[in-house]
Amino acid sequence: MRKFYLCKKCGNVVSLLVDGGGSLLCCSEPMEELTVNTVDAALEKHIPHCDVRDGKIVVRVGEVMHPMDNDHYINFLALEHDDTIEIHNFKPNEEPIWTFNYIENSTVYAYCNKHGLWKIEIN
Ligand SMILES: [Fe+2]
Repeated sequence: MRKFYLCKKCGNVVSLLVDGGGSLLCCSEPMEELTVNTVDAALEKHIPHCDVRDGKIVVRVGEVMHPMDNDHYINFLALEHDDTIEIHNFKPNEEPIWTFNYIENSTVYAYCNKHGLWKIEIN
């Protein structure tokens, strides 16, 4: 499973392309590894809702559409399969919907800048 890290000071979120084993610092402090689905927030607004059709996965966040305000929005969706990851970034006021090519046994992540990282497994 891919790891994502957050700087609690500036809000930077990173994931490693190569894990060299060192520790990550941002704003002079250690970055925090994000754990999925752990923030106390509405599941129906954060768990990615996936619809597989015609070789594609249409992902929206979530079952009830997540807000896309300037200070609270879905920053990115990511689809991970084995050692491959595809990421789409959103801006405020865009709809948190993106279409990926369907890949069996993949994981879809959604990141909310207020409520952290969420994921769902796709079979
Ligand atoms: Fe949120």
